[in-house]
Order: sequence, then structure tokens, then C-alpha cells
Amino acid sequence: METSLKPIVVSGIRATGNVHLGNYLGAIRNFVQMQDEYNCHFFVADWHSLTTLTNPAELRDNLGELVLDYLAAGLDPEKAVIFAQSSVPQIPELSWILSNLMMVSVLERCPTYKEKAASQPDNINTGLLTYPILMAADILIQKANVVPVGEDQLPHLEIARDLARSFNAKFGLTFPIPKKLSGKDIRVPSLGGEGKMSKSSGATIALTDSEEIIRQKCRNALTDPKRERRTDSGHPWECNLYVLQEHVLGADKAAQDIIPVCENAQIGCVECKDCFASAVISMLAPMQERRQVLARQKNLVRDVLHQGGITARESATETLEEVRTKVGLIRF
Ligand code: TRP
Ligand code: SF4
Repeated sequence: METSLKPIVVSGIRATGNVHLGNYLGAIRNFVQMQDEYNCHFFVADWHSLTTLTNPAELRDNLGELVLDYLAAGLDPEKAVIFAQSSVPQIPELSWILSNLMMVSVLERCPTYKEKAASQPDNINTGLLTYPILMAADILIQKANVVPVGEDQLPHLEIARDLARSFNAKFGLTFPIPKKLSGKDIRVPSLGGEGKMSKSSGATIALTDSEEIIRQKCRNALTDPKRERRTDSGHPWECNLYVLQEHVLGADKAAQDIIPVCENAQIGCVECKDCFASAVISMLAPMQERRQVLARQKNLVRDVLHQGGITARESATETLEEVRTKVGLIRF
């Protein structure tokens, strides 16, 4: 694999099941575009999944499904390192070392921690609190320069940046300060408009949903609440579906095709939702076809993860040895 001077990219998705349109538009699609220009590391965050998921069979299934989604979307193991996080034991060792540079109070203030703690009050485990340190270790162990993530992950990226700076200040220049993918604050809302499209929001479209189901789900999407009648003019900037249209059609095409006809009430929301459904269906169709072919290749997922694991461990070992030496740990 050619590594040379290309900037290093790291990103992952939790293996919590049912990969959806939000994952595709907000993450996987960017991953695919980055493969040629960057030295990419894309992984399944199976350790991060354990904070909320405790069913072993489900975890194993989700991991394989996510890798198939990666491959069906166009990730190429010849170009990008595709691996399972838990195949790289150097990550938690770095995480442990980094944890000594991170104040508990900062973690307690992290918005994702507060949300999760509120949503599962009976299971506020330590993994939820230290989640951002593990994520920082994922990023820093590969000395990543760029981390493509959705808007909701930016507080975690900030923590990774702080940890890189603290480590460098204390032990000498070691880590590049990782940046988000420039110019992109990716927020893909749920169909119903209540927050981002996520596994817990319910109003999602799975990458494997049938045409029928996609049409049905889109019919229930939230549109401009001020537009009561078909003859009322619409307000695309206050319309949840419009944000989704922008993601699927691209901002320019959405502006051109939708804004004028919406504002003049030449198109109704029902029709607009149906157009959106059609756009989603044609976007997903080639992926769904590829996925079926790939799913028939028996050892594909295992082989990809095995090879990716070897490569990811090589670079991780190099970083960890440097870190261990710098902090004064000796290997006996
Ligand atoms: N926390 C991320 C999410 O929930 C997943 C993730 C784990 C990640 N480690 C990462 C993303 C490192 C980017 C880089 O979506
Ligand atoms: Fe939103 Fe489309 Fe209705 Fe306009 S026509 S308000 S963009 S759903």
C-alpha cells in the first residue's frame, strides 16, 4: 500500500447496527471520496459499541454488516486500511496513558456524555465517561491529520486535539493536531426532525431498506410546519426535508430545483417527499446490488479485517513504542 506523504485520515463508526442514511451521507460517502487523496484508516468502533451494547451475537453481526456496508459503498481495502478497532490492542494502552492528561471535569462536561447519562441513568458506566479518550487514542495512534466526523462528534475531536497538545507539551512533539474535514459541518437530521439521524432517533432510512419502505418512511418526513395548504408558499430554510434534499441532491441542485417551485407553491410537500424518496432509492440501489454480491463471498469480511488489522497494528505499534519511551515506560 502506498503511504508516502499523503495526509493521514482516521474515522470509525460504532457497530450498533442498522447502518443508515445519516451514516452514509455524513460519514461513509466522504470516506469513499477520500481514499485516493489520503492515507485512510477506517474502522469499526467495536470497543466504543460496548458502552451501550451488551449482546455478543448482536455485536458480532453488526460488525460484519458494517464492513459490508463500507465495501458496498465503495471503500476499497486496496486503498484504505479497513479494520476492527478491537484488533489493535495498542489503542487502549495509549488511551490509558492519555487518560492521565485529561481532567475528569472536562469529560463530565462533554455534551455527548451528558446526553447518554440522561438517556441511560441506570447504566452510567465508566466507558461512557472515558469514551472521548478512547476516541482520541484511535486518532492519535495513527498520527492522524484529518478526522472526518459529523457535527455531533466535534466535542470529541476537540478533546483529541487537547490531548495531542498536552502530550506534545509535556513529552515533546509527537502527535500532529488532528483537524476536522475542512468546511464541512455535517449534520444529517432525522426524517422527523428531532435531532440528527441516529440509531436511537427512529426516523431513519437503513441502507438496506426496500423501495417500498423508503417511500413509506419519506411520506412521514417533517416538512415546513408553516405550510398548511398546498397553495401556501413554502419556506425551504425552515423545512427539515429540505436539509435532507440538500444532502442527497447536493446544495446547488437542491437550491435550483426546489427553492423557486417551493416558494411559489408550484410543488407540494407530498410531491417533494416523493422526489426525495426517488432520489434516495436511486442513490442506494447500486450499493444494495453490490452488497448482495459481496455478501455471497464467504470469507470476505474476515479477510478484509484480518489484513487491515495487520496494517493498522504496524503503524500503531510504532506510535506506541515512541510514546512509551517518551513517558518512561520500559519493555522488559
Ligand atoms: N464516536 C464516533 C461515533 O460515535 C465513532 C468513533 C470512534 C470515531 N472512534 C473514532 C470517529 C475516531 C472518528 C475517529 O460516531
Ligand atoms: Fe419543504 Fe419541499 Fe415542502 Fe418546500 S416543497 S416546504 S422544500 S417539503
